[in-house]
Amino acid sequence: MKAKLSVNIGKLKLKNPVIVASGTFGYGEEFADFIDLKKLGAIVSKTITLRPRQGNPPPRTCETPAGMLNSIGLENPGLDAFTECKLPGLAKIGVPVIVSIASESGVSEFVELARCLDKLREVAAIEINISCPNIRAASVPASQRPSLVAQDPKATYEVVKAIRKVTTKTLITKLSPNVTDITEIAIAAERAGSDAVSLINTLTGMSIDIATRKPRIACVTAGLSGPAIRPIAVRMVWEVYRKVKIPVIGMGGIMDTASALEFFLAGATAISIGTANFINPRAAAEIIYGLEKFLVKNKVNNIRQLIGSVKIEN
Ligand SMILES: Cc1cc2nc3c(=O)[nH]c(=O)nc-3n(C[C@H](O)[C@H](O)[C@H](O)COP(=O)(O)O)c2cc1C
Repeated sequence: MKAKLSVNIGKLKLKNPVIVASGTFGYGEEFADFIDLKKLGAIVSKTITLRPRQGNPPPRTCETPAGMLNSIGLENPGLDAFTECKLPGLAKIGVPVIVSIASESGVSEFVELARCLDKLREVAAIEINISCPNIRAASVPASQRPSLVAQDPKATYEVVKAIRKVTTKTLITKLSPNVTDITEIAIAAERAGSDAVSLINTLTGMSIDIATRKPRIACVTAGLSGPAIRPIAVRMVWEVYRKVKIPVIGMGGIMDTASALEFFLAGATAISIGTANFINPRAAAEIIYGLEKFLVKNKVNNIRQLIGSVKIEN
């Protein structure tokens, strides 16, 4: 018996549901010595902005119990250098390339990025990273504006709706866990025309060096990722799955096949591997192999049968 691993995300057909997460896989080439990149379901590139960004001052990362903090600050070469220097190499791998975008200057930058990427056949889909600061809804009074688009359903709707108007590419909206109710944001993204939601981005955290009494990260607070956030991510995938009809891409602390499976049972159609890539660059390949093995062993002939199949009494 051979198990079917293929899934659809909007118009995107993935041969398997294992994606590598934005910001944790470089532009692919860094991992070519470790894994056969062609085996991946899809690659999400590091978030780009219209103009190049240097990112935040160091130190920008530190280890924490069962995870890491990062405050890279969206360092990226900008749209033009990305499409000229990075995209051709990514496209050559032969797996769908999902380009992650963010804006430093409101809705219009998101729209410009999406309009440019829409013309490129190397771009399989666009992931809208609304978990970055300085992007706010114009219609919300300044005093009431939350710091992230992804913390406000109205702002989320406005951004996704504006992008939807300028592209027919598959749109994935990446949600932040730093909210009271993530389902409100997922519903807003779906209503605005997003083809899928991906979650979770990092959780805001802080770590202090007791010897120096200084924060371990120059920008003081930073994003927590890795196994420490997995139970929160699984819970949020489960909550969102029950409220939207579009596919959910789950991530947050997936390290191996067992942790990947939790996400499918909670409702994910596909999963993304992030921090695990730094610890084990072969993690994604091992999980693809492990999923197939699990399905065969348990006589499940299609991974889709697992999606949302967690057993909850009453
Ligand atoms: C060093 C680092 C850089 C990241 N950069 C981005 C980024 O540019 N865009 C983005 O949407 N998410 C970024 N993320 C978040 C990951 O894509 C992922 O959502 C998060 O880390 C949770 O998954 P994980 O626990 O498997 O890492 C980054 C994470 C890390 C650790």
